[in-house]
Amino acid sequence: MAKGELRKDVLKQRAAMLLAQVEEKSATIIKRIVCLEEYIEARTIMAYVDFRNEVRTGALIEHCLGSSKRVAVPITDITNKLLTPSEILHYPEDLAPGAWGILEPAPGCIRPVDPRELDMVIIPGVAFDLNGDRLGYGGGFYDRFLPRTRPGTVFVALAFEMQIKENVFPGPHDCPMHILVTEERVIKFS
Ligand SMILES: Nc1ncnc2c1ncn2[C@@H]1O[C@H](COP(=O)(O)OP(=O)(O)O)[C@@H](O)[C@H]1O
Ligand SMILES: [Mg+2]
Repeated sequence: MAKGELRKDVLKQRAAMLLAQVEEKSATIIKRIVCLEEYIEARTIMAYVDFRNEVRTGALIEHCLGSSKRVAVPITDITNKLLTPSEILHYPEDLAPGAWGILEPAPGCIRPVDPRELDMVIIPGVAFDLNGDRLGYGGGFYDRFLPRTRPGTVFVALAFEMQIKENVFPGPHDCPMHILVTEERVIKFS
């Protein structure tokens, strides 16, 4: 299956990236996001907490907290394939390992946010194409979550250039991105 092969290939390549590269490229990506008009205007933002070699989001979460934005991170319910945004007040103190070892709000720090209150969602992925289509990890978590936001919520995908592919084999349930940010460019899809 082409989609499964692509997922495996990109994850293998991304796992081989050096720590210094991940950190440097992530820093460039976060600098680009904080300059976006859509980000500056957003009051409530949900951002993933990176794991493995995903684009790092720590500096972005800190930027949100330092600029009086409400920032929520996802709580993953593996059984129901559900993401719940939960507001954090302190980073990383409010977080503890959750599903798959990914950091999420610790039991005493859970403050659910209605998805319709989100002005922006920062989304990870395995691969993206130049139409704004996204290949995830295969669980469809974001495809289920994003339709619960409101019209006008901006979907921002973060990726390294090596994750941009010509075709990511989108299907009818796949939720397209509005903006893609890499270490090289910002692409806005209309
Ligand atoms: N909104 C949805 N409602 C129900 N099932 C969904 C929804 N979105 C995705 N799925 C299912 O989740 C599974 C994984 O979706 P896929 O797009 O391949 O994963 P990913 O986006 O993580 O790469 C598919 O079987 C798909 O049918
Ligand atoms: Mg999908």
